[in-house]
Amino acid sequence: MGFTRRQVLLGLTGLAVVGAATNGARYWLGKSSESTVDYELIAAPIELELIAGTKTPAWGYGGRAPGLELRAKQGQTLRVRFTNHLPEPTTIHWHGIRLPLEMDGVPYLSQLPVLPGESFIYEFKLPDAGSFWYHPHTESGVQLGKGLVGPLIVEEKEPSGFGFERTLCLKSWHIDPTGAFTDFSVPREAARGGTPGTLSSINGQHNPMLELPAGQVVRLRLINVDNTVTYRLQMPDCESFIYALDANPVEPRPLGKEYWLGPGMRVDLAVKVPEEGAEWLLRNGPMRLARFKSVKGATGFEAFPKALPANPIAEPDLDKAQSIRFNFEWSGAVSTQTSHFWQINGVAWDINDKSCVERPIATLKRGQSYIFELRNLSQYQHPIHLHGMSFKVLSSDRKKITPWFTDTYLLGKNETAKVALVADNPGIWMFHCHVVDHMETGLMAAIEVV
Ligand code: C2O
Ligand code: CU
Ligand code: CU
Repeated sequence: MGFTRRQVLLGLTGLAVVGAATNGARYWLGKSSESTVDYELIAAPIELELIAGTKTPAWGYGGRAPGLELRAKQGQTLRVRFTNHLPEPTTIHWHGIRLPLEMDGVPYLSQLPVLPGESFIYEFKLPDAGSFWYHPHTESGVQLGKGLVGPLIVEEKEPSGFGFERTLCLKSWHIDPTGAFTDFSVPREAARGGTPGTLSSINGQHNPMLELPAGQVVRLRLINVDNTVTYRLQMPDCESFIYALDANPVEPRPLGKEYWLGPGMRVDLAVKVPEEGAEWLLRNGPMRLARFKSVKGATGFEAFPKALPANPIAEPDLDKAQSIRFNFEWSGAVSTQTSHFWQINGVAWDINDKSCVERPIATLKRGQSYIFELRNLSQYQHPIHLHGMSFKVLSSDRKKITPWFTDTYLLGKNETAKVALVADNPGIWMFHCHVVDHMETGLMAAIEVV
């Protein structure tokens, strides 16, 4: 079955046309202006049918999980009137967005938690284009685990050369065969690689069949919204190039045999869809994540676009940069109250201790350049994420690095990597592993910029 260009435009296949009005968006006050995009976003319980014939008592944003896709243009202000209809407090963090601390969604640091029934208005400018996402920064294991994760797409100011695009949120649900949730965190697993889910999904569907327009070049935005899993992405049988990593453009290069996408990370691919009727797989290592099918329809975007324009991130001055070393370690000490399996420079973060934010692990001078030496002294990999600022990956003792800007670096087991940044955003910024089990059992710290 083919589809007409009009159907593509209407998004009937879930395929968005770049630059079109936000699909399914619910604007509050009924308007958006040139400079501001408004959303009304509600977090509330929803029922999902993840396994046919069963019900999963999930939590969603905007009535879905993964949540409503928020879209705006680079340079615009995003204003989200958020309301909490969950039975517990929550916040929203805007992963990868360089914004003021008050909008960063960290409880007791940026704001007070939003209590059940309360609203909070998030409002910030979007300096960078790319694929981002949003999620709570409270009770992360449970809240992200139940489905509070959503894509935030910031379109380039000028047309990017892509005609069509599709966002794919990757999540593995912690459910049993009846659809009921299982434990989001099991101590034995938290002390290792983190507690994995059992049912893989793309946009909330297990093993979906996704249709793409034959012969066209399509932008796929893959977002790892999972608590734990590092996806080993494979898409043989289809010509595809990496255009951006974690929202930041790279010189287009083939996807290759396998790309490791850790929790929190994103990859934007340009895919040349084969001739009509062709089918191919997206896999996580040997496991199938989705099947793609090429269907007749749209025309007009058959060539690979040129590289995407760089985001306006300050270039660190490596000659003047001061170095700071961060050791990520397994400590294994299990106290009776909280498990502190992990630590950064000998300190385990305690998610139950609000005063942790008052003891930053490093203080940076505003405007200065820094090199962070990230040393993983453990047998497990850690997607290391920084709030508020993007950093440039410089080198690794394990692999050849072509430097790029990012907000999350997947630090392999026993790897040492160097990254650099200009401390240009004043505030106290969370610095943590994005394996939720790790961040909740110690692998988190605060970095201050004064
Ligand atoms: Cu997605 Cu503290 O981050
Ligand atoms: Cu973040
Ligand atoms: Cu980790």
